[in-house]
Amino acid sequence: MAAVRRSTAELTTFREAWDAALYGPDGFYRRERPAAHFRTSVHASELFGQAVARLARAVGASEVVDVGAGSGELGRVLRSEGLEVVEVELDDSLPSTAGLVIANEWLDNVPCEVAELDEDGVPRYLLADWSLGDVVEGNDLAWLETWWPLAEPGDRAEIGLTRDQAWADVVGRLAPGGVAVAIDYGHVRAGRPPYGTVTGFRAGRECDPVLDGSCDVTAHVALDSLGGSLVMQRDALQALGVSAARPSLELAQTDPLRYIAELSSAGEAAELLDPSGLGGFGWVWTAADEAAVRRASRALSA
Ligand SMILES: C[S@@+](CC[C@H](N)C(=O)[O-])C[C@H]1O[C@@H](n2cnc3c(N)ncnc32)[C@H](O)[C@@H]1O
Repeated sequence: MAAVRRSTAELTTFREAWDAALYGPDGFYRRERPAAHFRTSVHASELFGQAVARLARAVGASEVVDVGAGSGELGRVLRSEGLEVVEVELDDSLPSTAGLVIANEWLDNVPCEVAELDEDGVPRYLLADWSLGDVVEGNDLAWLETWWPLAEPGDRAEIGLTRDQAWADVVGRLAPGGVAVAIDYGHVRAGRPPYGTVTGFRAGRECDPVLDGSCDVTAHVALDSLGGSLVMQRDALQALGVSAARPSLELAQTDPLRYIAELSSAGEAAELLDPSGLGGFGWVWTAADEAAVRRASRALSA
């Protein structure tokens, strides 16, 4: 059945409703802790933070800015590694820094417009009630045509412009020497999903993305449109020394406690490196100047 077409003037767009659901006065992220609803790399293992600390040292950063810091789990590890940490959460302003900026699973929570091709092949905005509204135009249309062209009626795409702008704002605050890394689940132009990726999470389970503040609402990030270099988390973490190699059985005989600790660490590393899970996330990085590019590139290449 064809969707009822309304004007966006009458009904709020998907992005506006998404924004209110997460960040409005009683929005999801005003009340909830991320760890209560989903598991990110910072919850999976301290090995992640230790690798970020090695990256900070490799690029000569004494300060790490954690954008979308949630409950600060990453910061705790980084401080224990001797780094200064600035946590940026809702209502904080972004600082300028010559250090390392990390945004782990932030951009997937930056609300964006969603477009769908109607039965005549025209891209229209999805509205808060999932009906179709006005024709997509202007910068949103240019973004769609460049980054996520829709092919068939019913095809749907998340317009990544708001994520690109949010990331450009972060990158624009890098002082000489600074490096910024956005880490997220996402896709590139060669492999966009045809029906979009908007989904919800509540209490550890995937759920319908209801826009009433009762659940997290997220969509994969168009990693290539952010600009910068892209490396898979698996490769980045391995380059930073994270290894899932299991300890030798001989160690079990000679030092059983160390064997158990190394086995547990190898299990945590395997979760961070799993190519069908966290290891398949993208690290999109940018550096402020040529010297910083060289340092980051060396640290993040195997
Ligand atoms: C999925 S959580 C990730 C939390 C943490 N980085 C982690 O890896 O567990 C996204 C976080 O981004 C925060 N956030 C969303 N928009 C933001 C903004 N404009 N500025 C700062 N933080 C924001 C949310 O409040 C939430 O804590």
